[in-house]
Amino acid sequence: MSVAIVYLSGKGWVAERAAELSGLITDDVTLINLKDRSAGQVDLLAFDRVVILGAVRMGRFPGKLKRYCFKNEALLLKKKISFAYACLEEDEGKKNAYLLSAFPPSLVKGAFAKVWIGGRIRLSDYGWIQQKMLAPLVKDDVIEKKLSENIEVLAGMINEKL
Ligand SMILES: Cc1cc2nc3c(=O)[nH]c(=O)nc-3n(C[C@H](O)[C@H](O)[C@H](O)COP(=O)(O)O)c2cc1C
Repeated sequence: MSVAIVYLSGKGWVAERAAELSGLITDDVTLINLKDRSAGQVDLLAFDRVVILGAVRMGRFPGKLKRYCFKNEALLLKKKISFAYACLEEDEGKKNAYLLSAFPPSLVKGAFAKVWIGGRIRLSDYGWIQQKMLAPLVKDDVIEKKLSENIEVLAGMINEKL
């Protein structure tokens, strides 16, 4: 059984979590970084399970990740899929709305897991305009909530072939 983790990271936190998840999965894992030009050439047919991983910015997931899911919807529907997503919002309703407004509803409803992994905003990752905007939210230059336990639960589900 092989697993693909398709991810898109803005400032690296999601990429770190993709590596963390991949390290916990006992089967073969392929990391598909949508920032790589070659990502579109990886054939999803080769995988039994696909994890979609991305972060919310201004209430939205990145267009590139959304387009990838719409383009591959039919193929993904034949796989066991799960979503892992980064955001700092705590409200369950809002988090669900982020997913449902971004991805094909068939995929969101059919996913065997939708796992919140927390998020990080580090002011030094951003230019001064964004830093000014983010400063009221971020004490001590960084805010981080890393839900490793949720990443472990997802890896466990994948390993147990649930
Ligand atoms: C400009 C900006 C906007 C964000 N907007 C939201 C948001 O609307 N809702 C939310 O829950 N988290 C929001 N976040 C938190 C991100 O989801 C979090 O920083 C995530 O870890 C970013 O991952 P990355 O380092 O891979 O880009 C925002 C972060 C930034 C920097």
